Amino acid sequence: MRNLGVYLEINGSFCHVGNIVGNSSADACFQYSKAYLESSDSHPISIALPLSGEIFSPERTKNFFEGLLPEGFSRRAVADWIKADENDYLSILAMLGRECIGAIKIVENGNKEEEDGYELLSMDKVKELAAEGASRSTQILMETHLSLAGASGKVGLYYDEPSGDWYLPKGNAPSTHIVKQSHVRFSKMVLNEQICMLAAKELGIDVPESFVINTGIGEDSEILYATKRYDRDFTGKGKIGKLEIPSRLHQEDFAQALGIPASEKYEKTNSGYLRRMFELIRRNCTDPIAAQNKLWRLICFNYLIGNTDCHIKNYSLLYGENLKQISLAPAYDIVATGVYGMTNEMSFFIGDELDIRRMNRNTFANASGEIGMTKNQTLKIFDEVAAGFESALSKATETLIAEGFQGVTGLKERILETGGYGNV
Ligand SMILES: Nc1ncnc2c1ncn2[C@@H]1O[C@H](COP(=O)(O)OP(=O)(O)OP(=O)(O)O)[C@@H](O)[C@H]1O
Ligand SMILES: [Mg+2]
Repeated sequence: MRNLGVYLEINGSFCHVGNIVGNSSADACFQYSKAYLESSDSHPISIALPLSGEIFSPERTKNFFEGLLPEGFSRRAVADWIKADENDYLSILAMLGRECIGAIKIVENGNKEEEDGYELLSMDKVKELAAEGASRSTQILMETHLSLAGASGKVGLYYDEPSGDWYLPKGNAPSTHIVKQSHVRFSKMVLNEQICMLAAKELGIDVPESFVINTGIGEDSEILYATKRYDRDFTGKGKIGKLEIPSRLHQEDFAQALGIPASEKYEKTNSGYLRRMFELIRRNCTDPIAAQNKLWRLICFNYLIGNTDCHIKNYSLLYGENLKQISLAPAYDIVATGVYGMTNEMSFFIGDELDIRRMNRNTFANASGEIGMTKNQTLKIFDEVAAGFESALSKATETLIAEGFQGVTGLKERILETGGYGNV
C-alpha cells in the first residue's frame, strides 16, 4: 500500500493536511487528516475537495492531484526515467511533488527529505537549458523534485535580482521564477509570450513580471522566458545562506477547482465551461465582481491575440496567505498561437461558438447570459480591450526591439492578421 503525505505551506510553514493512500493510481484516495480538520484555521486545498472526513473517490483524488503534474513530453520523459507508466500519476507525483505549483508538497512515506539549499547555476548551464530542448529541463525537474503543470519544457529556479544569478533549489527551498524554453516546433515562442504579456500589461491586465533571458544573440536556442512566481510572497520571510526566501501561496487552476480532469482541459462539446468558471468565481472569490471583470477582460484579450490554447488550466485562482481570500490569479501562458496555424478551435465555447474564425464582437455580446454579466458591461470590457489593442501591441513590440530582440519584427503583423482582432 502506498501512502503519500500531503502538506500545504500556510503562513510560511508546512502543515500536514492529509494523505493519498492506495495500491495504485487506479484506487488511490485522498482524505484530510483528523488533526487538520480539527484545527481552527483549516481550509480546503481545493474548491472541489471541501473539508470533510470523507474518503474522496479515486476520480476526485486524481482530478486534483494529477492536475499538479507536467503534461505531454515532460511527463513522458519523467515516467521513462523512473520506469513508470505515464498514466501512473501517483508514481510521478511521489517523485516530483516536493515543490509544486502553489503551496502543496507531497512526500511519500519513507522517502528521505533533502537539505534545503540553492546551487548556483553558471550562465553556461542556463544556456544549456535554453539550447537542449526538454531533456535537460526534465533532468532538472527530477533533481529538484519539482512539479510544474503544463506541456512545455520548463523549470522552477531561484533568481537573485541584485546579482542577476540563477540558482537551482534543493530540498524544500522555494523557486522564485518559472523559466520556459523555446519550442522546437514553434519558432519565436519565447518572444511571442513576452510580447503578449507586455501588451496585456499595457491594457490593464494583471500580469506577473516577466522577461527574456538572453544567453547569446537572441536566437531561439539562446533565449528563455522567465516569469516571477505570483504564488510566492516576497516580503522578507527568512534566508537560506545569503538568499532571501519567499513563502508559498496556494493556487489551483479552473480544471482542478471545477473537478475536471486535465485530459478534458479542452472543451470539445459544449458543456458550459465558461458558465461554470464564472459561477465558480462568483461563489468563491472574495471580491466576485472584480474577479469576474478581470476574467472577462483576459478572455477578450486571449481572443484578440488569437490564443486558441487558453484552456481551463491556463486560468487559476490564487489564495491569500491564510487561505481565506481567493482571487483570480494574474494572467499566464498567453501566447498568440494563431501565428502557428495550429487549430482554429478555441479551448472553450464562447457564446455557443468554438471556431475563432466565426467569432466576432456579437459572439462576445451573446456570451453575456453565460457569464452572468449585463450585455452593457460585457461589451464595455470587450470594446475597451479592442480599442487599445493595436497600440498596446505596438508598444510591446517597440520595447522588445529596444531590448535587442529584433526577432520580434513581423510578429505583431502576424498577430494582427491571425488573431480575433482582424474580425472585430
Ligand atoms: N508567474 C507565475 N506564477 C505562478 N505560477 C505560474 C506562473 N506562470 C505559470 N504558472 C503556473 O505554471 C503552470 C505552467 O505554466 P504555463 O501554463 O505557462 O506552461 P505551459 O507548459 O506552456 O502550459 P500549456 O500546457 O498550457 O501550454 C500554469 O498552469 C500555472 O499554474
Ligand atoms: Mg499552460
